[in-house]
Order: sequence, then C-alpha cells, then structure tokens
Amino acid sequence: MAAASGTGFQELGIRDWLIQQSRQLGIKEPTPVQEHCIPAILRGQDCMGCAKTGSGKTAAFVLPILQKLSEDPYGIFCLVLSPTRELASQIAEQFQVLGKPIGLKDCMIVGRMDMVKQALELSRKPHVVIATPGRLADHLKSSNTFNLKKIKFLVLDEADRLLEQGCTDFTKDLEVILGAIPAKRQTLLFSATLTDTLQELKKIAMNRPFFWESKSEVRTVDELEQRYLLIPERMKEAYLVHLIQKTQDEHEDWSIMIFTNTCKMCQVLNMMLRKFRFPCVALHSMMQQKQRFAALAKFKSSVFKILVATDVAARGLDIPTVQMVINHNTPGLPKIYIHRVGRTARAGRHGISITLVTQYDIHLLHAIEEEIKSKLKDYPADEKEVLRILTHVNVTRRECEIELESTDFDEKKEINKKKQMILEGKDPDLEEKRKSELAKIKKEKRKFKERIQETLEKQKEAQLKHKLLKRRRKEKEAAKGE
Ligand SMILES: Nc1ncnc2c1ncn2[C@@H]1O[C@H](COP(=O)(O)OP(=O)(O)OP(=O)(O)O)[C@@H](O)[C@H]1O
Ligand SMILES: [Mg+2]
Repeated sequence: MAAASGTGFQELGIRDWLIQQSRQLGIKEPTPVQEHCIPAILRGQDCMGCAKTGSGKTAAFVLPILQKLSEDPYGIFCLVLSPTRELASQIAEQFQVLGKPIGLKDCMIVGRMDMVKQALELSRKPHVVIATPGRLADHLKSSNTFNLKKIKFLVLDEADRLLEQGCTDFTKDLEVILGAIPAKRQTLLFSATLTDTLQELKKIAMNRPFFWESKSEVRTVDELEQRYLLIPERMKEAYLVHLIQKTQDEHEDWSIMIFTNTCKMCQVLNMMLRKFRFPCVALHSMMQQKQRFAALAKFKSSVFKILVATDVAARGLDIPTVQMVINHNTPGLPKIYIHRVGRTARAGRHGISITLVTQYDIHLLHAIEEEIKSKLKDYPADEKEVLRILTHVNVTRRECEIELESTDFDEKKEINKKKQMILEGKDPDLEEKRKSELAKIKKEKRKFKERIQETLEKQKEAQLKHKLLKRRRKEKEAAKGE
C-alpha cells in the first residue's frame, strides 16, 4: 500500500514491540490516515478519521490504544463499538494479534451468542471490549458485575452507520452506553463516509477533535475498476450466472462477493448458484449467528469462492482474496455503494466491481456517480450467451423460490421480529393488537375524509347547477325583453 511520506511508525511515536508485531500483519510503513491520526491519539486528542475503504483505519486506532494500554494496563480500558458482529470479530482479531506481547485480554460482546458466558467474561475485567451496541446495552441494563466507568478510550468504527437511523437503529442503545461511560475519555471515530453525519459525531467527540480526511476528490480507490451493466430486470439472474461463469473460467483463484438487497433474495440466489454448482455460501441477518461466522470463515479461507450477502457484509470486512464485487441490485444510497465496492481493491491491491442496473435504477446510478466523483464504465457482456441460458436460469430461480416458500422462511422472519420485540421489552401480541387498532382507526378516518369529500363535491355540483340555471334564466329573460 502507498506509504504516507516516508515517515515511519517510529517517528510517529510507536514503540518497537508494536512495530515488530505490526510487521507480522504486513503493516510496515504507515498509510496517510495512520500517519496523521496516530500522533494525535497519542497526544491525547479525540480523533475523527475519514479515509477510503481498505486504507488501514483499524490499525490507526488499534496501535495507539495498545501503546497507551501497555503504559498503564488495567481493565476495562477501552470500548470499541461496531455495527455488525462479523466486523466486531475482525477487530477483536487485530487486537489479539497486535496485543499478544503484552498479554492482551479482549472480550467480544455481540448478539445471538451466549449471554451468561459473556457476562462472566466481562466480570473478569478484560482490557478491551469489542461490542455491537444492542447486546452491550442489554448487559448494562441487566447486570451489575461489570462497569465501564473507567474506560479511557471509546472507539466507534463505522461511526456514521452507528449514528444513522437505518433499518437497525442503534441510537437508543448508544444512549444507554454513553450514559455508562465517563465523560472524560478519548473518543475515536472512523469511517470511509463520515462527512454527512459530522454534526452528530461532533456531539460524541466533544473535546475539539482532531479531524483528518483524505484529500482526494474521488471517493473510491484508484485501484478499483468500476463497471456497470444496463440490463432488463427479468434477465438479472442470467447475467449474474454468466458473469460468475466467465470470471471463474478466466480467473480460477478469484473470490467474489455478491451483494443483494433482501435476506430472501440472498437465500434464493445462494440456492440458485449452488444448483449451477458454484462454490457458494450466504450471509444475511436471518441466519443463526454460528452459521454466519461459519459461512464467513469458509469464504475467508477460500474453501468457497463466492459469498452472497446482504449489506450486513458491506462495511469494514477485510478479505484480501476478494477480487470482484457484484451488486445484484443498484444500491439506493451512494454511501452503501462506496462500502460495498470497498470490499475489493484494498490495501493497494486491484479489484473490479460490476453493478447491475435495470431500467428503473438509472437515477440511482447517476446519484452514485455524482457522489463518488467518478463515472462507471459499461461492462461488455456476451449477450448471446446470456440469451442462451436465460430460460434455464429463470426456471431454476423460480424452482428455488418455490422451494424456499415451502420452508418456513417468512414465518421465521415473523418469529425473529417477535423475539426482537421481547428483547426490547415489548409484548408482541399487544403490539399486534395496537397495530390492528391503529389500522382500524386510520381506515375509519380515511372513510370519514372520503365522505366529507363526497359531500363537498355534491355541494359544489349543486352550486354549479344553480349558477347555470340562473344564467340561463337571465339569458331567456333578456331574449324575451328584446
Ligand atoms: N500500513 C499498512 N501497510 C500495509 N498494509 C496495511 C497497513 N495498515 C493496514 N494494512 C492492511 O490493510 C488492510 C485494510 O485495513 P483496514 O481493514 O484497517 O481498512 P479500513 O480503512 O478500515 O477499511 P474499511 O473502510 O473498509 O473498513 C488490512 O488487511 C490491513 O492489515
Ligand atoms: Mg475499517
């Protein structure tokens, strides 16, 4: 990866033992985000680092934290928050490798894993806790065997995601967590897309944070070749199969990530691609957590070369073998596009992304191009070959959909929703009742509005008729007078 300006880690103030340890991960010369943020963090400043995907933001916070910890080791010293469990696990790994010489004790607190075991680990005062907000907030609310009152560092990786109100809303959990940690702390915020949540972020990093943003106008990395394919909706899957086949024929060793927009589509595509004998695994939020970790491990070790995922895998994951990203749907937000395609072309390596764009998505493509300040190029596909496999692919896809419908996939979704409500302290049956009552009230209101509208229209009509009659009468009278 391009080093910053010849400044080594030593000049940044990093100790020899950490430099030695970093080398094991191929981290030899600092990248720009590391060159600028590490000294600020070592000086004790809050820090906001906005740098492109794959540019080494993780080490930019892990290295100075470990150095500070080694000077005054105690638990719990640092709390790192991540929006997904898989990313939390990856950050924990980096802490483990780099912190080995000081006997680092870390602890991962994420949802859908054994809560009792986690509570026990927390009570043993690990140096670093890496958590997803929901589960950590649950522990804070239900347990008094640990506290976060002495932490020196709070890190929000993918900070903008943690603060935005997306499909998973972390704001309530963050409130609980922020209420449990000391106001006097160092806050470190990192992401490739910080800029549109700056105001919210500044409220969390209150002590005049050091802010560093990479200067380049283009928001994706130069090593990424960005392509798009304009295709009819009904041919999407045929193009997908064709693209994968072509890539596998030409580049046997490439790993591919395919992003799609729903859990169901993710499952269907995975089933379909498997029927075409592609080595494929899925990753989405309706899978058991153990299955999720297992699928990712299989993909990371290249046992399976294709991962079909929802946006749960769009941020932060660092898998060097990924050479290609395919967007099965055009992302609705440019930000999501930036993170998805950022799963390839990391740390100076080359990569390619191909976004499938249908007739309905052209405006989304334009929004992406405007945001990233770069134009995507057309991908030349072999249309004849796609037409040849079209019927076969569509029939297979339909078969997979039917197969999935015969399982309890949708029911599971409902059950998961109910479970979530229970965890949030709500009664699912009561919520259901409330919802149907609300719907009833809305329906009645609508009917009432319609009736008023009808009456008003009738009145208007009558007035018009009256006016017309009046005018005619006047005209007749005028005619008589003549
Ligand atoms: N100074 C360095 N020199 C070479 N490689 C590095 C350096 N720093 C980090 N790396 C490697 O670069 C890869 C990407 O790093 P990292 O995951 O921290 O990127 P990121 O900036 O957090 O990306 P994202 O925005 O996608 O989360 C990792 O494999 C990491 O080991
Ligand atoms: Mg990262």
